[in-house]
Amino acid sequence: MKPVRKAIFPVAGFGTRFLPATKAVPKEMLPVVDRPLIQYAVDEARAAGIEQMIFVTGRNKYAIEDYFDAAYEIESDLAAKNKTQFLDILESTRLAPGKAAFVRQQQMLGLGHAVGCARDLVGDEPFAVLLPDELLWNPGNPCLKQMIATYENKGGNVVAVLEIPEDQTHKYGIVDPGAVDGAVTEVRKMVEKPAAGTAPSRLALVGRYILQPEIFALLDKGERGAGGEIQLTDAMAKLIGSQAFHAVTFDGDRHDCGDNAGFIQANIALALERPEIADSVRAFIRKIV
Ligand code: UTP
Repeated sequence: MKPVRKAIFPVAGFGTRFLPATKAVPKEMLPVVDRPLIQYAVDEARAAGIEQMIFVTGRNKYAIEDYFDAAYEIESDLAAKNKTQFLDILESTRLAPGKAAFVRQQQMLGLGHAVGCARDLVGDEPFAVLLPDELLWNPGNPCLKQMIATYENKGGNVVAVLEIPEDQTHKYGIVDPGAVDGAVTEVRKMVEKPAAGTAPSRLALVGRYILQPEIFALLDKGERGAGGEIQLTDAMAKLIGSQAFHAVTFDGDRHDCGDNAGFIQANIALALERPEIADSVRAFIRKIV
């Protein structure tokens, strides 16, 4: 079984729900406490053993590329002032030379299309996809690490899922479950944004995937699905039957940071885990609630 060495981060979306901020700042650069969303996703990938980070960007996303570059002026200034604690923070975010690659999605044709844009950089090997606006939080055992454990056991394709309320299923890709073995569920079918009342289960895809390279040929067909977009879910659904396909129920906290309320909740939850600010944030919440 080939190891999963590469990860795709689709970051080309407009982030409409965060206008006006996203007129000038990519959604993925919005901070949760003090780290941008993209950093949480990259840290999760690194914790799972991913070596190569591939960012699918779009217009006005230069800040992401700059973020993963050296910041010469600020670093030399911090060094001159001996502010080593800040240099250490920057060092912890650094990717090794050649380990970040950027490719552009010229048109927003959907998540499947964005993933397809990375096909030449991925080549003929399994890969991970992480949507950075889904902050899946379990620092002790990050989501992709949980999925890699299943991949090493079952091979094929692995997606992360969470059980969501029935009245939310029309917003997600939903799995039709087969045999269940603890947190691992066999996937029989998959449907993107099923009409209300038609979802095969309440198990929703939450933005983490381990996929085999055969998916690229399916994405290349450019077939449109829900919302007129080239859907990753539709291409994955076509792999089922010819390759192993499993879902792992994520053990941890999910914050949907593509949504304004989810983003605020992530900030509160992670602030309460920071010893240096937790007390004042908790006191403030008590006061206003
Ligand atoms: P979303 O639809 O949630 O993100 O896509 P968005 O478009 O940035 O946000 P809104 O809906 O306008 O507020 C989920 C993920 O897929 C990426 C997005 O960047 C996001 O990470 N995506 C989506 C692409 O990279 N390209 C696309 O064509 C569509």
